[in-house]
Amino acid sequence: MAAYDVVVIGTGPGGYVAAVRAAQLGLKTAVVEKWPTLGGTCLNVGCIPSKALLHASELYEEAGHGFADMGIGVSPTLDLKKMLAFKDEGVDGNVKGVDYLMKKNKIDVHRGVGSILGKGKVKVTPEKGEPTELETKNIIIASGSDIVRLPNIEIDEKRVVSSTGALSLPEVPKKLILIGGGVIGLELGSVWRRLGSEVTVVEFLDRILPTEDGEVSRQFERILKKQGMTFRLKSKVTGVDASGKTLKVSIEPAAGGDAETLEADVVLVAIGRRPYTEGLGLQEAGIETDEKGRVKVDDHFRTNVEGIYAIGDVIAGPMLAHKAEDEGVAAAEIIAGQAGHVNYGAIPAVVYTYPEVASVGRTEEALKADGIKYKVGKFPFTANGRAKVNRTTDGFVKILADAKTDRVLGVHIIGPDAGTMISEVTLGMEFGAAAEDIARTCHPHPTLSEAVKEAALAAGNGAIHM
Ligand code: FAD
Ligand code: NAI
Repeated sequence: MAAYDVVVIGTGPGGYVAAVRAAQLGLKTAVVEKWPTLGGTCLNVGCIPSKALLHASELYEEAGHGFADMGIGVSPTLDLKKMLAFKDEGVDGNVKGVDYLMKKNKIDVHRGVGSILGKGKVKVTPEKGEPTELETKNIIIASGSDIVRLPNIEIDEKRVVSSTGALSLPEVPKKLILIGGGVIGLELGSVWRRLGSEVTVVEFLDRILPTEDGEVSRQFERILKKQGMTFRLKSKVTGVDASGKTLKVSIEPAAGGDAETLEADVVLVAIGRRPYTEGLGLQEAGIETDEKGRVKVDDHFRTNVEGIYAIGDVIAGPMLAHKAEDEGVAAAEIIAGQAGHVNYGAIPAVVYTYPEVASVGRTEEALKADGIKYKVGKFPFTANGRAKVNRTTDGFVKILADAKTDRVLGVHIIGPDAGTMISEVTLGMEFGAAAEDIARTCHPHPTLSEAVKEAALAAGNGAIHM
């Protein structure tokens, strides 16, 4: 029986970061993790392995096409086993990094399923051996999320896969069908298309990336089509027949109508994620959840039971690693008596395809729905010197600013390195920047980031290079 100030259940980016900050603030801290390695979805089967494959497959494609235009002659060959090993080694390095952080900050790691027995009590049930009980002043639930399944489609992680299976396919499928044109579908679809798959995306709604700005979705779809992806929008998959050598995928218009059958070697189900609360004992502990099964918290991450907090994918908000991390820091600070806070109006989101799609703040659709008057400053990469010389001109920067005050309300970028460029405007938004503040900030030349400045100029008196 150990007495802690904080016990964190789950060691994803929410949980391990909360634990580190709690320990830094002098709190005696432990984590409980049921998986063999620390780091949660993000490090083991999410952000990190997907980015390793995106990086490697992008270079493979570039070597096959783009290099020749620059006078570099190479004929790349694919050793998929080695590419998967490159990804696995990257994951291994990252999860070991979390082990190191636990040791460095003197955080106890308890292996097993953590269940809340009530205020201040966590039971840890290891895979083998007897359960133990931890006593603690505070508990942080950081149990993350799991994939959403379709009721009539069984995921075997071999031919009908979730993102986890799609990160480790032993060979390149000739035909890959993605159910869901969201972030996972487009990132992992890009990986396998670059490696040689014919990729068809079946999306229920009338556009891909439905939470992004509409103009971004439409232009991005055109770019991905040019790259060779096929889209079946307003469509749903009603079943997958896996009895034969080739999968027979039945699809129908979303609104109902004639069914048709497509063939595939692999089907990836990527229709969203749901909060994961199995085994936590929420009901027994009297912890409330909402209609979507998310743990309910107030704006201090407190559940309805005193001393029990929740953060990350298991609570409301975007299911993103950096959102989970920031909530982890804020929750630890609040427990330590400080004023932890997360600004939900300035959480960036990035789709790590080529080109990248990055956004922060409001979309045009959301501003219209709320009746907010805004102006638009837009600048295409075709007019950016660096993008032109690099021949990476697909995309644009779009800044939405308040019509009266000029305050930046939202920024949307399609372009190479959009994920890096979004940080400067996120910082600007944190400081309540006006578009003019960005326009008057000196940006280095020649960089892609000059397109951000030009879009800000376009929201005012006009861009220079257009
Ligand atoms: P998780 O990372 O899900 O961690 C939860 C942990 O809790 C797990 O280790 C689990 O084993 C453990 N756990 C659960 N219940 C218990 C219990 N009862 N006892 C003990 N342990 C328990 N986000 C980004 O921001 N950028 C990206 O590029 C990105 N890429 C992604 C790619 C893929 C393929 C996927 C699937 C997700 C991606 N995400 C990305 C989302 C990101 O992974 C999540 O938002 C993030 O991992 C959430 O962190 P978390 O700490 O809330 O939960
Ligand atoms: P998603 O919510 O991004 O996209 C799911 C898509 O599936 C939506 O477009 C939706 O309209 C569609 N859909 C839903 N039901 C359908 C059906 N029956 N048939 C066809 N289409 C259907 O979810 P996704 O891609 O599974 O990713 C889950 C979450 O993981 C993301 O929302 C994000 O939070 C996180 N993630 C983040 C990444 C990043 O930050 N780069 C990368 C990968 C995942």
